Amino acid sequence: MAIVVSVVLGSVRPGRMGARAGQYVVQQLETLGAKVHLIDPVALDIPLFGQRYDYIPEAERSPALVELHAKFTESDAFVVVTPEYNHSYSPVITSLMNYFYHNEFYYKVAGIASYTMGPYGGVRAAIQLRPYLGELGLVSIPKILPFPAIQSLLNEDGSVQDGAAGAGALAAVSGGFFPELLWYAKANKAARAAGTL
Ligand SMILES: Cc1cc2nc3c(=O)[nH]c(=O)nc-3n(C[C@H](O)[C@H](O)[C@H](O)COP(=O)(O)O)c2cc1C
Repeated sequence: MAIVVSVVLGSVRPGRMGARAGQYVVQQLETLGAKVHLIDPVALDIPLFGQRYDYIPEAERSPALVELHAKFTESDAFVVVTPEYNHSYSPVITSLMNYFYHNEFYYKVAGIASYTMGPYGGVRAAIQLRPYLGELGLVSIPKILPFPAIQSLLNEDGSVQDGAAGAGALAAVSGGFFPELLWYAKANKAARAAGTL
């Protein structure tokens, strides 16, 4: 059975660049045979975090939240796509992911993708995101996927721009990141099937 990956977008900003990175990640994963859920907080329109999913009475859970719960539960792995906001990761991610915890995330795998319109690709945000994901129970893979100067690297549909300066570097980093994510996802899936604590 295919590995299932949720790709979580971390921006709701009008004119956001994050959708480009998200589309790129989705395409790379699908090429490698994964089943992908693109988790777009704009489309979901879930309120700012107020209470964990488990504690919200069933009748009060919105259809969007129930759908998100089903997709996260089905997922073997997550790619969290964060912009760098003030040298940190986006609060959009924590607002969405804080709804869930043990049942949805524990013993599963996370990859971190980050981006900026500047030259560093959001690596400061990416490194700060790792302890947060760890607390959710996700095993964060060693490699990260930064997109520097994303506005001149990716088109709106996630394809790489013709002649983009960073195209070669992105291909090289992707060639390590995606196989590593799927390796860890498969290993953890097998381990989960054998039993958890
Ligand atoms: C609130 C805010 C804080 C930002 N902080 C940083 C930063 O610390 N470092 C950086 O390189 N770019 C920073 N930027 C620029 C963003 O990386 C750039 O605008 C990016 O496109 C944001 O992602 P989004 O378009 O998907 O929202 C910041 C942008 C915003 C809106």
